[in-house]
Amino acid sequence: TGFITLDSGFMNTGSCESRITYLDGENGVLRYRGYDIVELAENCLFVEVAYLLLTGELPTYEELDTFKYDMGKFALIHEDMIHFFDHFPPHASPMSILSTMVGSLHDFYPEMDREEDPYGGITTTTARLVSKIRTIAAFSYKKNMGHPLVYPRADLSYGANFLNMMFDRPNMPYKIEPVLVAALNKLLILHADHEQNCSTSTVRLVGSAGVGLYPSISAGINALWGSLHGGANVAVIRMLESILADGRDFEKYISMAKDPDNPYRLTGFGHRVYRTYDPRAEITKKICHDVLGSLEIEDPLLDIAMELEQRVSEDEYFQERNLYPNVDFYSGIIYRAMGIPTNMFTVMFALGRLPGWIAHWQEMNSDKDSSRIGRPRQVYQGIVNRPFIPLEARG
Ligand code: CMC
Repeated sequence: TGFITLDSGFMNTGSCESRITYLDGENGVLRYRGYDIVELAENCLFVEVAYLLLTGELPTYEELDTFKYDMGKFALIHEDMIHFFDHFPPHASPMSILSTMVGSLHDFYPEMDREEDPYGGITTTTARLVSKIRTIAAFSYKKNMGHPLVYPRADLSYGANFLNMMFDRPNMPYKIEPVLVAALNKLLILHADHEQNCSTSTVRLVGSAGVGLYPSISAGINALWGSLHGGANVAVIRMLESILADGRDFEKYISMAKDPDNPYRLTGFGHRVYRTYDPRAEITKKICHDVLGSLEIEDPLLDIAMELEQRVSEDEYFQERNLYPNVDFYSGIIYRAMGIPTNMFTVMFALGRLPGWIAHWQEMNSDKDSSRIGRPRQVYQGIVNRPFIPLEARG
């Protein structure tokens, strides 16, 4: 073990070479395939960005039309998969449903893991997964509500289709609100990739053992679930609700987070890589104001969030440690405005992150060095050698 360098939490270990996402944490810069996240979020559809991540290039009109057509064509899930939903307990977590169902795609569509790539970086397998995950997510919500399933419609855009499957009811047709569709589109783009974060590294590591796309993504979904990662968007709302219920006692929460003897943290602040404001958080904050403003929604949690951010920005503890809002801080308030329940927020993150996960899985498999099985070493600290004690001699 003498040659092994310990780097717990992988603070400074590059696990692969990658050409997908550029992240400059000192200056708050995030680029997918060289394109700035701000420009992509302002100008693109989520499916265009998914195409960019998967193929390396933004699509032409024709390529985009083909991809959109595939999104419509592949949106149904095998009817036998629908029976699965019936056998989860009524309050099953949508994240466990999502990972189970995505893993099971491997069995429903086994031939697809062995196919040829029909057009520049997007296989039928990957296109199907990007389309079907939305149907699975919406169906899990309908089952949770005990409502009839609403099937996907090929005439709707990616985001509109998802919102319609979530909220349309036989007795109350859903009115698709363009402001919400636009906000969802931006949110999905902002979440689409973030280089070697915990879930993406998981997808690559699991995939490096020779596991197919669907089970690798299923593993990534489980990693994302954690409250220090994608689960933070749920924890943020719970925290803001508690501050509100506690009569806006901000100091109580800030002091708990600063106390070295208390593991409590202000969720939605801090990041492993950013030492400045997370560029995604800046955009989510703006979307939050735009959506609530244009739909005339009053959400007390937005006031709480803004005041908390203000107080944190003035506090030395947070300044010294470069702790700023991250992508999860404002996103939940936007999901609330859409009517998405809190326990689905991390599922929303997964829908956005999916193209990034797939792009990394593909990159890992196409690069000889990166596709070597991931196998970290350890620094062993236990007893090295002991004389064996037979059972009868152990007292
Ligand atoms: N509240 C209070 N103190 C914090 C926070 C926080 N949110 N985040 C970090 N710190 C402190 C931490 O206690 C440590 O202080 P000290 O040096 O005195 O021991 C210092 O800042 C450095 O923290 P760290 O834990 O070494 O940093 P890390 O890079 O290992 O962790 C993090 C990054 C994101 C897990 C962490 O900042 C955190 O727990 N934040 C809250 C959870 C959260 O919002 N997660 C979402 C991250 S962004 C989206 C995603 O990845 O899914």
